[in-house]
Amino acid sequence: MSFDAEAVRQFERTGWDRAAATYGGSFAHATRAFVPALLEGITPGDRVLDVCCGTGVVTAALAAAGADPTGLDFSAGMLAEARAGHPGLRFDEGDAESLPHADASFDAVVSNFGIHHVPHPQKALAEARRVLRAGGRMAFTIWAAPAENVAWKLVFDAIRACGDPTASRAPPPGGGFASAEACVAALEAAGFVDIAAQPLRSVWHHRDGAALLQALGAGTARMAALIGAQDPARLPAIAAAIDTAAEMYRGPEGLALPLAAIVARGRRPGMLR
Ligand SMILES: C[S@@+](CC[C@H](N)C(=O)[O-])C[C@H]1O[C@@H](n2cnc3c(N)ncnc32)[C@H](O)[C@@H]1O
Repeated sequence: MSFDAEAVRQFERTGWDRAAATYGGSFAHATRAFVPALLEGITPGDRVLDVCCGTGVVTAALAAAGADPTGLDFSAGMLAEARAGHPGLRFDEGDAESLPHADASFDAVVSNFGIHHVPHPQKALAEARRVLRAGGRMAFTIWAAPAENVAWKLVFDAIRACGDPTASRAPPPGGGFASAEACVAALEAAGFVDIAAQPLRSVWHHRDGAALLQALGAGTARMAALIGAQDPARLPAIAAAIDTAAEMYRGPEGLALPLAAIVARGRRPGMLR
């Protein structure tokens, strides 16, 4: 199957709409840990755009830090959750590839695990640059490759062993990147300067393999499609395979699964403040 940008966009929007109501109690526990890396360098009063804001995890943290945040997402379901959870904050509906904001209208743009879902991440970075004032800062997180990301690797390996890795009908993803080098190259290509990318680590706690499958099924789009496409009769075997492979991460309170992400930063050329 070849890459079809509009099919990816439609798949992502439908998937995140479906996940919106259960996202806060599932996948947000994994994404939340990386928010402090995006708050670095933000000062009170900064106008900050949170691209792919989802339920507003980062937008709310920015407001708590004294910034003046605006959340942006294309999922009506996510925006409904964000507005209900944070009634005092501003959330705009729009696509990361064509932001509904004026040129140079933000001091900073951030995105927590959003850019790699966009069909053309390069367009999203160009849009972030456009809405930043001269000298304004961009920072975003992405997941590291599954080989480093234990929670993902466990699921992919278990489905390969006990399920069907080809079962999902999701369209192939676009230019999703999963390395520091790819982030740096993308920021350079978008015209940013003072670029840096570094690894981040965290831990995601689950009772067992079944709970991990449940959380990914409830709070993601692409992984949920893969899990949801498995023969339900095979799910107990998939969960058991995860438990066996995850034994080294088991403690008295269940599984403590390492998460690996990358934070990438750049600055729009121009005056520093
Ligand atoms: C993994 S969630 C991250 C949510 C939030 N930033 C967090 O840290 O929990 C990805 C979000 O990206 C949004 N998204 C994906 N593609 C998008 C696009 N092209 N334009 C705007 N939002 C998009 C989804 O609707 C979803 O809310």
